[in-house]
Amino acid sequence: MRIAFIASEVAPLAKTGGLADVAGALPRQLHDFGHDVRVFMPLYASIGAGTSDAVALTNAQAVPLHLGPHFYRFSVLESRLPDSNIPLYFVHCPELYDRPSIYTQDVDEHLRFLLLQRAALETCQRLVFGPDIVHCNDWHTALLPLLLKSIYAWDRLFAGTRTVLTIHNVGYQGVFGSHTIDDVGGDVRGLLAPDTAAGAPINWLREGIRHADRVTTVSPTYAWEICTPLGGHGLDGDLRARRDGIVGILNGVDYAEWNPATDPYLKHHYSRDDLSGKVATKRWFLDWLNLPVPETTPLVGIVSRLTAQKGFDLLFDTLPEILTTRDLAFVVLGSGETRYEQFFAELQQRFPERVSFHGGYNNELAHLIEAASDMFLMPSMYEPCGLNQMYSLKYGTVPIVRRTGGLADSVQMWDPITRQGTGIVFNDFDSTGLRWALHTALDLYKDRDAWLQIVRNGMAQDFSWERQARKYEDVYRGLLAGL
Ligand code: ADP
Ligand code: GLC
Repeated sequence: MRIAFIASEVAPLAKTGGLADVAGALPRQLHDFGHDVRVFMPLYASIGAGTSDAVALTNAQAVPLHLGPHFYRFSVLESRLPDSNIPLYFVHCPELYDRPSIYTQDVDEHLRFLLLQRAALETCQRLVFGPDIVHCNDWHTALLPLLLKSIYAWDRLFAGTRTVLTIHNVGYQGVFGSHTIDDVGGDVRGLLAPDTAAGAPINWLREGIRHADRVTTVSPTYAWEICTPLGGHGLDGDLRARRDGIVGILNGVDYAEWNPATDPYLKHHYSRDDLSGKVATKRWFLDWLNLPVPETTPLVGIVSRLTAQKGFDLLFDTLPEILTTRDLAFVVLGSGETRYEQFFAELQQRFPERVSFHGGYNNELAHLIEAASDMFLMPSMYEPCGLNQMYSLKYGTVPIVRRTGGLADSVQMWDPITRQGTGIVFNDFDSTGLRWALHTALDLYKDRDAWLQIVRNGMAQDFSWERQARKYEDVYRGLLAGL
């Protein structure tokens, strides 16, 4: 199959969260299955060195593009996804992409991602690459199905093209004032959601849900949750209206990057059969963090965007209390909303010997935390898939998660009778739930036999892309067969 995969972030080139991990890994697996996959993304200023081997695509230079009253010229650079043969097309338009961050609050934010989608299709035309599948991800690329049905409807190159929209997070929708509809293009009006056509703002994710040939999301539980008023963030009606339903496919893990036996960031490697490297990693890491606790003290890790979605509000009253009454140490890496950053910074001041907070984004530290910690905390309010809990399982770091979305689908509550289970799972999104989970985990940690069993159960799990990407292949095949 010829597959055009388009995303606003692709690891390792540009990443703010799990979308980048998926966009950097799923195309590789599809390529390994033998498909002709091409990836499209913006050339953000931060990518710089990532383009050293990129070459200008000859007939896609200084291409003029009108977006309503706005006029741009973009160029396309052809590169490869790092360590692969997979064509990666960078859309170069410094006027839009030379900004301090991947996402902005700037007034032209919609134009930045509109240009990405238009440029991807214009590039397909110039390459005479008629994709069987265009795979879009999240709101930034969710208008593309609509563009194919309107502006590009004349082009026979796309006559056989089917579109897939994967929702990584329904909480981010791309809602822009109705004046931006002209920027999308005059001929789309008749195809928009009725209230938008009547003057309401345009919601890109909603248009994607209405126009994509297939809508998927990143776990089976989340596929169900977003169809309910509680989980749909206002789009549950549109999601339920799709008679073909929403396909939930759990993300995979790129075990080439996330594997304690080979992780280049670790001095001491380890595996399920020999955990001594994990103990050594923890010892080294506690020293490096300057936390003067013995290695018998359980270390709990967090690596996360600091937003309300991740459930950190629950920590405000529980963590100080738990730190006062129990023996544990905490290491947190994250950036985001100030109130959470302040909370963790203050916690570190109050418990300097047991709490270590690191603001900002740091991939190496993320790997070290996964490897050195005994437990990994994800008390998410909602979690479409979540990747860190799956990384944790591989690293023998027991996840403590709330039963929601992909966390519910990837972590199984420990059962002392059957000795099965891979983590601690709590149900209710409240401090009582979290308190219970933390106490349960800390108690279990003292039962060395049980703990080792949970660790080993987790390390035996297989969330490889090899498995998960087959499910996307099935979706594509179904579409092409007209199902
Ligand atoms: P989300 O996409 O909602 O942020 P995921 O669990 O799917 O959540 O993916 C988060 C990804 O981003 C993981 O690869 C995680 O290691 C990484 N990550 C999040 N915050 C940071 C950070 N501050 N530094 C380094 N990596 C981070
Ligand atoms: C989103 C979700 C996260 C998911 C990631 C990749 O950022 O918040 O749960 O794992 O996308 O699909």
